[in-house]
Formats: sequence, structure tokens, C-alpha cells
Amino acid sequence: MSQGLTALVLAAGQGTRFKSATNKVLHPVLGRPMIRLVLDSLLALDPDRIIVVTGHQKDDVARAVAHPKVECVVQKKQLGTADAVRAARKVLAARPNDDVLIINSDLPLFRAETIKPLLRLHRKNRNALTVLSAEPADPSGFGRLVRGERGRLRVVEEKDAAPAEKRIGEVNTGIYVFGARDLLDVLPRISNKNIKREFYLTDAVEIISGRGKKVATFKTPNVEEVVGVNTRYELALAAAALRSRKLRALAEAGVTILDPDSTWIDLQVEIGPDTVIYPSVTIEGSTRIGRGCLVHPSAHLVNAEVGDGAQVLTGSVIKDSILDDGVSVGPYCHLRGRTVIRAGARVGNFVEMKNTDFGRRSKAMHLSYLGDSAVGQEVNIGAGTITCNYDGVKKNRTTIEDKVFVGSGTELVAPVRVSKGAYIAAGSTITADVSPDSLAISRVRQVEKPGWAKRKKALAEKRLNRKLTRKT
Ligand code: UD1
Ligand code: CA
Repeated sequence: MSQGLTALVLAAGQGTRFKSATNKVLHPVLGRPMIRLVLDSLLALDPDRIIVVTGHQKDDVARAVAHPKVECVVQKKQLGTADAVRAARKVLAARPNDDVLIINSDLPLFRAETIKPLLRLHRKNRNALTVLSAEPADPSGFGRLVRGERGRLRVVEEKDAAPAEKRIGEVNTGIYVFGARDLLDVLPRISNKNIKREFYLTDAVEIISGRGKKVATFKTPNVEEVVGVNTRYELALAAAALRSRKLRALAEAGVTILDPDSTWIDLQVEIGPDTVIYPSVTIEGSTRIGRGCLVHPSAHLVNAEVGDGAQVLTGSVIKDSILDDGVSVGPYCHLRGRTVIRAGARVGNFVEMKNTDFGRRSKAMHLSYLGDSAVGQEVNIGAGTITCNYDGVKKNRTTIEDKVFVGSGTELVAPVRVSKGAYIAAGSTITADVSPDSLAISRVRQVEKPGWAKRKKALAEKRLNRKLTRKT
């Protein structure tokens, strides 16, 4: 009796209470759009397909949910939750023997584990409809589950509820499993005769129940997972809960997180065992960090790839860049724009690199900027080296070959190439290519004026004495 499973996500609404130009369900939570999280959890249930009902900003929503199992249908006008399901009628009819799991798109905390018992119960008892209910601390705003005679069930929306009904603590979570045929049957029977003049999907409960079919509830203890996010503050609370979940999962996989309260790690981030994360670290996007690494306080990594045994020291920012095994960078360095730091290389404090390939065992320890550069192996970049890569119109490349020594305070005016083994004298401004194994000096020769400082000092003293005598 392996029925197929269709999941149906309602996402046509605007989310007015977010007060945002962007659809509520597209707002990111720990790096992933809210609706994408719902989809991730649904995919964990391995449904045969997922239908997403879109409306407000439908193209953006469709892009956010793109997946081989996902099909989007459009609800032209938001006339209520039953009307949203109606928009999927044709697609639903293609698999009339499926169970249909209906869920809202604003539940970033919801997990497949919470739905599994609902599905099991629905299938075991061969229900026409099974409603996931819950008893939140504050039931206001939810539809209440009203139990009548002979097990008859109905849902009354808050706005339509009588005072006694408002006192009911068991609420409709907006998550249901229908038999597809029962769902298709009931849709035309739902009217909009209610205070909001909307077609309520919740009316299906009373209609199906009244026709003597099996309607049941399953009450979940995991209330926080099924309470929707309606405001930005609720989004922040959901993000905090997800963050704890993520940090716990990492810790259980062998990552040391010294201060969970100040650590932010996006959901997609991967970190190997025995890596230590210090306080106030933020790790975002598709970042992957190997095993046995150290990430010191206030480091910020975005879409970074960090090998095994690497060290990212205090205050460093690594964006869209790669650190090979064993590399050490920082404190306070800024690596961005597809920079690659090769094995054994070291980058020190106040060094910025952009779109730079920095070779094995090379060093840039202090106060430098390397942009659009290729740096070979065992190169020494002296303190205060700057590539002048931008001429006001375009970016130009700097190439520094293996074993080059760049003296401190050098400016490399790109495009320029410093060939293998060459030396650049400190303080040079290099405007032409340097040939292999040579020394390039490009600075004004020093002049010395003997006794100049002494004479200047004596003159100043004389003037001061004269002033003092005049006053007395
Ligand atoms: C709904 C339930 C309520 C339940 C609550 C749980 C109804 C009538 N009420 O109320 O019993 O306690 O969820 O959160 O269903 N949507 C569309 N098209 C529409 C209207 C809504 O796609 O025309 C989508 C929304 O984007 C949203 C979801 O359906 O994701 C729920 O709609 P909403 O209007 O927020 O229903 P609630 O008032 O929360
Ligand atoms: Ca809602």
C-alpha cells in the first residue's frame, strides 16, 4: 500500500506584516531563503513531487525553489488558502491516489521528523484528512479545533470564533494530509461566507467530517516548529533557534565551539572535526573548513574554502577565497575576490589581497596590498608593498615569479612582471619588467649635508635667547 506522496506548499501570500519590498518567504534565515528551508525539510520526506503555489513575486519564488521535484503553479489573486489549493487542482488530479501534504511556506524550523508520525497515522487509519494540531502557549491568531458530537471536527478561524471557541487551546497548524481524491472533491464545496470573505481551506475539515469520512488530528509536541514566522522579529527568533541547532550538530560532529552565544554559522557551512571556533566568529554562505583548523576571535568567512590544519587569526575577513592546507593568515587580513593562498604560505597583519594567487611558502607579513597578482613560490613580500593595479580605467596584472625578494615599501605599477630570483630594493617604484636574478632599484639617490642639523638647532636657540632678552 505504498501510496505516493505529493507535497503542496502555499506561498502565494505577500507577508504584509514583514513591511518589506521582498516577499516574506524569500528573506534569508542563516543564509537560506525561508521557503528553501521548508523545501529542504520536505525533500527529506522523499515525496514524489512538490507543488509550490506562487503569487506575489512569483518568479523570484520560483527561482528560490528550483529543484527537479518542484513544480510551481500560480494563484492569480489571493482569495484564501482553499483557493490557493484550487490553483493546483489540475496538477493534483494527475496523481489521484497520492496523499497530499499541505504546508505553509513560512515555517523555517519545521523538520521532516515532525511530519513523519502525522503521515504514518494518516496511512495506518486510512483517513480522508489528518490535521496536525498543537497547543502553543498563546493560541491567538490561529484557527481553533472544535470537537463536536460523534467525533465531528471543525476549525474556526480566530476572526470568526465565539468567545468560548477562542478559549480552546488546541490549534490548527495549517499542516494537513489529505487523500488527493478527497481534497479534489471538497474544493468546489468551500465557500467564502466568512468575515474575511476568503475561501478557507480549514472548512474542508467540517465538510469532510460531516460526510462521515475519517478525519483525525495528530497533536505535535514540537510547537516551535509549526508556528509560522509573520514578523521580522519572529524571523530573528527563528534564526536564533536554527543557529543553536546548527552549532549543536557541528559540536556533535567534533567541532569545538568555544562560545555558542556569539558564534554565527550559516546552515550550509561545513566544518571538519577538531577545528576550534573562537568567540564572535561569523561563517557564512558555502564556506567549507577542514579538520584541525583554528578560527580565532572575530574572524569573518564568506564562501571560503579552508584546507586542513589552517589558521585564520583574529579579525581576518576571508571572502570568496581559498586557503590550502596548513596556511596561516592574519590577524586582521582581508582576502577576497578569488584569492588563493597556497600550502605553507603565510599572510600577516593588515595585508589585503584581491584576485591574487599567492604561491607555496611565500610570505607577506605586514601592511601590503596585492591585487590581480600572480605570486610564485618562496617569494618574500616586504612590509608596505603595494600593487598599483588600477589605472583609473582598467585593472592590470602583476606577476612575481618564484624566489623573488620584494623590499619593503615597494610600489609595483601594473602591468608589470618581476622575473625569477630578482631583488627589488626597498622603497622602489617599479614601472618596468625586471629580468631574472637582477636587482632593481628605483628611488632617488640619498644626499647628505654634514652639520646641517646642528647649525639649524643653534640658529633656533639664538633666536629664542634674543626674544627672552627683549622681554626683560
Ligand atoms: C491559516 C489557517 C489557520 C491556521 C494558520 C496556521 C486558513 C483559513 N487558516 O491561517 O487555521 O491556524 O494558518 O498558521 O487556512 N496563502 C496563499 N494564497 C492565499 C492565502 C494564503 O497562498 O490566497 C498562503 C500564504 O502565503 C501562507 C498560507 O497560505 O503561507 C497561510 O495563509 P494565511 O492567510 O497566513 O493564513 P492564516 O491566517 O495564518
Ligand atoms: Ca500565517
